Amino acid sequence: MKTLALVNQKGGSGKTTAALNLAAALAELGRRVLVVDTDRQASAHRWAMARDGAAPRPVHRLPVEDEGGARHFSAELRRLAAGRRAGIVLVDCPPGLPTAAIAALLVADLALIPVTPSPLDLWALEDALGMVAEARKARGGKLPRVGLVPSRLIAGTTLARDLPETLESFGEPVAPSIGQRIAIAESAIAGQTIGEYQPGSKGHEEFQALARWTVEAVKGGP
Ligand SMILES: Nc1ncnc2c1ncn2[C@@H]1O[C@H](COP(=O)(O)OP(=O)(O)OP(=O)(O)O)[C@@H](O)[C@H]1O
Ligand SMILES: [Mg+2]
Repeated sequence: MKTLALVNQKGGSGKTTAALNLAAALAELGRRVLVVDTDRQASAHRWAMARDGAAPRPVHRLPVEDEGGARHFSAELRRLAAGRRAGIVLVDCPPGLPTAAIAALLVADLALIPVTPSPLDLWALEDALGMVAEARKARGGKLPRVGLVPSRLIAGTTLARDLPETLESFGEPVAPSIGQRIAIAESAIAGQTIGEYQPGSKGHEEFQALARWTVEAVKGGP
């Protein structure tokens, strides 16, 4: 089982959107995926429930609000993944208080950090990478690996063009970018993934590229 954590203390960077659309794109590649929603706002879980009549999505709520919850997190994840026979677990973390993110980073193979083109996000990225460094130290190795995901890029803007290069300077691998697309926001409102809402669209292709990148990034041992 491989565990991917979507983390960023900064709100609205695209963690939940990435968790759900990446899960769908990984499923397209034939992977059995489970999304674990650790956010008390339960956005991922609500999105999964927004589909009238359709088969339930593999999204499970597991809020981590205190040290106790964090202590049982790893065992709970394994139990949930085994129950679903999931090969990949995607953990969607909340913004703000870092308890859930720390718990997720202590078990994750890969931390995906969506970053939008804003100085606020770059400062938050320093915090997130600080947490990754702590987790690596606690685990005595190189895990979690990191993928910086340029997120919500507005086409044709200098900020969007420069972000991937700016992210390179943080010394961690940079994943394929996700554009700011109306269809991605609309698909969430409809309780769908971009691949369901607009199959073959640019947004769908972006998440497919991110899924392929992710599969490569978690290949092999630590
Ligand atoms: N690529 C995108 N294109 C268009 N809209 C997007 C995109 N990514 C995210 N959004 C929209 O931006 C808002 C924030 O996205 P999302 O909820 O995924 O961020 P988050 O990091 O999970 O936020 P939080 O920190 O509050 O959990 C949502 O309204 C979502 O629909
Ligand atoms: Mg979220």
